[in-house]
Amino acid sequence: MPSGSMARANWAGSGWWAPVRSSTIGVLDGAEAWQRLPRRHQPAWPDAEALLAATGWLARQPPLVAAAECDRLRAALAAAARGQAFLVQGGACAERFSDASLARVGATTSLLRQLALVLWYALDVPTVLVGRLAGQYAKPRSEPTELRDGVRLPAYFGDAVNDLRFDEAARTPDPVRLVQAYRASARTRGHIRRFVEAGGLDPRRTVDALRRTATEAHAGLVDTIARAAAQRPGDGHPTEVFTSHEALLLEYEAALRRAVPGSGREYGSSGHLLWIGDRTRAAGGAHVEFLRHLANPLAVKLGPTARPEDVLALADRLDPDNEPGRLTFVVRMGAALISELLPPIVECVRSAGRTVLWVCDPMHGNTRRVTGGRKTRLVVDIVQEVRRFFDIHHRLGTWPGGLHLELAGYPVTECLGGTDPVELTDLDRRYDSACDPRLNPAQAVDLVAQVAATVNGARA
Ligand code: PEP
Ligand code: CO
Repeated sequence: MPSGSMARANWAGSGWWAPVRSSTIGVLDGAEAWQRLPRRHQPAWPDAEALLAATGWLARQPPLVAAAECDRLRAALAAAARGQAFLVQGGACAERFSDASLARVGATTSLLRQLALVLWYALDVPTVLVGRLAGQYAKPRSEPTELRDGVRLPAYFGDAVNDLRFDEAARTPDPVRLVQAYRASARTRGHIRRFVEAGGLDPRRTVDALRRTATEAHAGLVDTIARAAAQRPGDGHPTEVFTSHEALLLEYEAALRRAVPGSGREYGSSGHLLWIGDRTRAAGGAHVEFLRHLANPLAVKLGPTARPEDVLALADRLDPDNEPGRLTFVVRMGAALISELLPPIVECVRSAGRTVLWVCDPMHGNTRRVTGGRKTRLVVDIVQEVRRFFDIHHRLGTWPGGLHLELAGYPVTECLGGTDPVELTDLDRRYDSACDPRLNPAQAVDLVAQVAATVNGARA
């Protein structure tokens, strides 16, 4: 049975209904055309019936995010695309279900807010807060299997698919995890709401949190920011925290589509901003086709293999009406390649008359392996890529509109360096990431403090 025939609930709170789609009579067109296109990085679910049971359950649940919230984010991203705001997006590479606690979610959200405060001060524009939160449970992997001590098992594909534990039962994809992913997302959203309602976004509270996070080296900067925030308490500070994740698992995302009655619009209700990863961004592939029918703001990751013509093709597919806020490109070329690869892409998009939001992900092009196999990243590489990203946009007269970071709200030792440096010998101390290495709070503040210094240097 094609998954397009699964129950499709109405957006409205009452009277869930399940319209019968054209796909049930064998035509996969319009919003269902993704089903006949090549899909990359999908789990091999061993039990088709269990998958249908899970997606059927998901299709009957309330939306995780509201259409009006998605629209508000889209408007905020439109401002960022026009050079009037800055996006701060971040969280874990792979969220775990066990991260859905008030302490963890509050810490991540607080850190994003602190980074936003520094960037608000440095760039003098309002900031937009988007967590890699409440849905970042699925990972594309370069190796589909993992070999340990002569035993080969499926790789870990994220908590929505299988478990990190290295045994056969844990690593077998289990669709019940899609239900758990929905529930963990709902809990996480609840925790974000609690954090916001408790005043967690308040500039004064954020200054206090920043003082605790920043190392000695940034004490002067924090004082300056504290004064600026006290003078302009109502100016450009975020009042809302949006959520985002890679929309990788097509069955999950399809089961959570919700129509807004009377509008003809359909939203992905799993998160506000949905992105397509660097590995699934083929313009003729299932992910692009699936997402282009949704009214959410969309993002696409661009790695070193992205050519200007690929990027234009993506813009044509995903943002045919050239509406600022609709499309964000998250660039992750690596510090060594960005200066060569990004300018022709930005110029090509600009000369096509398009307004998109350019965001820098300085993490994914700067991953290294240390002896022993652990993945890490150097803070100096991350800072370098961000500096070059700003520099490129400065030269081209375009707006460097955001940062996309992998970070933890507590002091992990996964990336190397910083002003209170994590050394090679520290890596094992607190390496918790289930996938890629994250900045700890002090390292993340180091990064934005250096951005602040660069921008102020350029202004002076
Ligand atoms: C990620 O964001 O964790 C990721 C897999 O990124 P990319 O698609 O850019 O490789
Ligand atoms: Co990652």
